[in-house]
Formats: sequence, C-alpha cells, structure tokens
Amino acid sequence: MAHSESVLPMKKLQGKVAIVTGGASGIGEATAHLFTEHGARAIVIADLQDEKGQTVAESIGSNRCSYVHCDVRDEKQVKAMVDWTVQKYGQLDIMFSNAGAIGKSNYAILDLDLSQLDHLIQVNARGNAACVKHAARVMVEQKVRGSIVCTASVVVSNWKGGDMTDYNMSKYAVVGLVRSASQQLGVHGIRVNAVSPSAIETPLSSSTGMTGDLLEKLFVPLTSLKGIMLTVKHVADAVLFLVSHDSEFITGHELIVDGGLISLPHL
Ligand SMILES: NC(=O)c1ccc[n+]([C@@H]2O[C@H](COP(=O)([O-])OP(=O)(O)OC[C@H]3O[C@@H](n4cnc5c(N)ncnc54)[C@H](O)[C@@H]3O)[C@@H](O)[C@H]2O)c1
Repeated sequence: MAHSESVLPMKKLQGKVAIVTGGASGIGEATAHLFTEHGARAIVIADLQDEKGQTVAESIGSNRCSYVHCDVRDEKQVKAMVDWTVQKYGQLDIMFSNAGAIGKSNYAILDLDLSQLDHLIQVNARGNAACVKHAARVMVEQKVRGSIVCTASVVVSNWKGGDMTDYNMSKYAVVGLVRSASQQLGVHGIRVNAVSPSAIETPLSSSTGMTGDLLEKLFVPLTSLKGIMLTVKHVADAVLFLVSHDSEFITGHELIVDGGLISLPHL
C-alpha cells in the first residue's frame, strides 16, 4: 500500500446528506469541510451571511454543497430550507444545528438588556428548536435513523458565577432541548446530542472583544490540558464523532470540548 493511502482517514459519512446551520463561518464552516472530507454526499449550509455562505459552498464544490439563506429564528424559513434539502438531495441524515448569537454588553443581571435577551433566546433556543423539529420531521417521515447535534456551550456545564446571564440562559435551553428531544426521538432511531465548546477565536467571540491573545491569557491558566489551544477543528472532530457510526449508542449527551477547564474566568 502506498504511504499516502495508509494515512488516509476512514471516511465516516459516505453517502450522507447533512445540513449545517451557521456554516458560513467559524465552527460551522470547519465542520462542513470535515463532513466533506469524510465523504458526505451533500451538505447544505444555512446562514444569514450570503456572501460568506456562498464562498464556503463554492470552496466545497457546487456538485455536493449548496448555500441556502435561512434565518433560524423563523420557523417557515427553517421548514422551507429542510424541505428544499430533501427535495434536492432525496434525504436528510444529519442536522448540525449550530447557528448562534451572543450579546455584547449589559448582560449582568443588574444591567440586563431584556431586548438583547429576547434576541439570544430567539436565535439560540427557538432557532435550535425549529431546526431539531423540522429535521426530525423529515427523518421520521422517511424512516431515516438520523443524527442531530446542537451547539451549546461550556457555560452550561462549567459556569461558576459568570456574568453572561442572557447567553448562559439561552445555552441551557439548548441542552434542555437536546435531552427532551433525544428521549422522544429514540423510538424512531434518531439520536440527538449537544456539543459544548470552550472559548475559541471566531467572529462571534471576537465581537465581544475576546481576541486570541485575551482568550489565551484568560483560559490557559484555567485549562487542565497544557500546550494546546482549542480550535474550530477540535469542535468539528467532536461533531463528526457525534454524527457518525462511532457514537451509534450515544444520545441525549452533552459532549464538552474544553481541555478540562477547571472554571470559567469572570468576563
Ligand atoms: N466561539 C466560541 O468561543 C464559542 C464557544 C461555545 C459555543 N459557541 C457556539 O458555537 C456556535 C457557532 O459560533 P462560532 O463561534 O463559530 O461563531 P461564528 O460567528 O463564526 O458563526 C456563527 C454563525 O451563525 C450565523 N447566524 C447567527 N444568527 C443566525 C440566524 N438567526 N440564522 C442563521 N444563521 C445565523 C452567523 O451568520 C454565523 O455565520 C454558536 O452557537 C456559538 O454560540 C461558540
């Protein structure tokens, strides 16, 4: 066997059709590329950022990737996007419900901006509910033993008194959704899990002022695992595990990707 063949990873998603929400950027973009490397037959990127989404789709290739404009807050758009996927590619095996938003300030309880809270609940909680609902609907209709993964956050498992009340609340809702939906959908063979990353530099974290240097300064001292910083690829690897056959008997689980974070810094 040639050396190049021996190092090729096993393709874990041969023939699968996947939707990645929030796939125009960050974790979603990295995961869409990893799904492609693992043989996914088709990937639909659903996002609000049309130019970036189109660019990601083109980089993967128009024969196996499409971009669809979809605001996950709007159930009609989510339903239409899921139905379009099934119409174009014949089935849906994987939903990576990852689109998310974060506030910029006024999130400590005494200053809490309730309109910002409403926005985060709309995107992070309601958006995930719509994506899980409509992915599961078509999987049940087509008798597909599909896999759904939602992006929560390490704040759910490791929040020891931080300030981001609104984001924290919206991400707890994601884990609640995953636990509840996994119990109900198991009868159809559909698995529902959550991935909870620690902080990584992406446009979302940078929008709060959390650039790479600051993240390193705040998180490295509080992370057990030394000599490595979290990247979007680490999160994509965890998502690949959760959607592939490797996790066939895992459902209702929150997979924390935090390098053994001891506690979160006050932000
Ligand atoms: N970056 C981090 O430190 C971190 C840590 C834990 C969890 N997360 C979560 O990871 C997920 C991905 O975020 P990221 O860090 O890759 O940031 P990102 O900004 O790179 O990606 C988020 C994507 O979601 C899209 N989006 C936002 N609102 C949307 C809506 N209403 N409808 C459709 N798409 C929408 C954005 O356009 C963007 O492309 C989010 O759910 C976020 O909360 C991020």
